Amino acid sequence: MDSSPILSVSDLAKTFSLGFLGAVPGFRRLPISVKGIAQRVEAVRGLSFAVEPGEIFGFLGPNGAGKTTTIKMLMGLIRPSAGSATLLGHALEPGNRRQRERIGYLPEQPYFYEHLRPMEFLDFYGGLFPMTAQERRRRARELLDRVGLGHALDRPIRKFSKGMVQRIGIAQALINAPELVILDEPMSGLDPLGRKEIRDLIFDLKQQGRTVFFSSHILQDVEQICDRVAIVVKGRLRRLGPIGELVEVGAQGTEVLVGGLQAPAVEALRLPATALGAAHRFVVADPAAVDGFVRAALDAGGRLISVTPQRRSLEDIFVEEARGA
Ligand SMILES: Nc1ncnc2c1ncn2[C@@H]1O[C@H](COP(=O)(O)OP(=O)(O)OP(=O)(O)O)[C@@H](O)[C@H]1O
Ligand SMILES: [Mg+2]
Repeated sequence: MDSSPILSVSDLAKTFSLGFLGAVPGFRRLPISVKGIAQRVEAVRGLSFAVEPGEIFGFLGPNGAGKTTTIKMLMGLIRPSAGSATLLGHALEPGNRRQRERIGYLPEQPYFYEHLRPMEFLDFYGGLFPMTAQERRRRARELLDRVGLGHALDRPIRKFSKGMVQRIGIAQALINAPELVILDEPMSGLDPLGRKEIRDLIFDLKQQGRTVFFSSHILQDVEQICDRVAIVVKGRLRRLGPIGELVEVGAQGTEVLVGGLQAPAVEALRLPATALGAAHRFVVADPAAVDGFVRAALDAGGRLISVTPQRRSLEDIFVEEARGA
């Protein structure tokens, strides 16, 4: 396999101008209320990172971080204000069909021909790529089953629920068996089971040797499957690396749940306890002290329910980074 990045961005930036007032001399001195309706938005401020072939890469950031703007620049839908991007080893060429044929894309707000039924829609979309009609239909059927829409073949898309629309969007992104799959919030609108199904599907894509780059603002969506993540806040890259390194398991202490403890025994353990029904929850700060604490709790007549290393949530990191930004 080629070891050069399959996707890379270098100093990529995008500034949107809102209204004409931004160009007026003395704009900086205008009252906030006026600026509010007429300002420049620096959505992406010099992003650089690379995605290796075969990776699942999570592109994370809170709302407004610039994820969709970056993805739209990657897809050639909007023009960067500065910097560059390469896809599949070549500079981005919006009109390059061969490049496009190797990429699958799920937009954040997909628009579909709503009168079509799922098979018709995927057949139509597959028609944009070099596939025989038979191949198109076979893949469409396979993908509809894979995204859990096999039961809705007779329903026009306008009668789909939000989660179903998201699922057909994902099927659409995969119809051309792309090497590189770019998904903007693929789990949005899905319930927990649906999120898991999409995680499994993304993992399958990796098993097939494909590369997946997807955006999300939810830790659970990325932690189990991403090889690496980039965390973007206010248009800037704040963290890059394997998720385990970024959220340091155990950094926030270890939660120990113990049942069956009488009040004097709880006191004797000398750690603040929260009563949860008949159980007590303790947080042991020092990882090296966990074994000793568990032993003491058992000796005091307790019954061990669980021991869970705590970690900073992605939200904590967002807040931390946003403060530092
Ligand atoms: N066409 C546009 N004109 C002006 N500002 C824009 C435009 N598109 C995006 N922005 C602004 O750029 C910033 C980044 O938006 P973007 O949609 O890229 O964020 P995001 O990370 O995808 O957020 P979300 O998680 O909510 O989808 C926001 O402040 C947004 O208002
Ligand atoms: Mg977005």
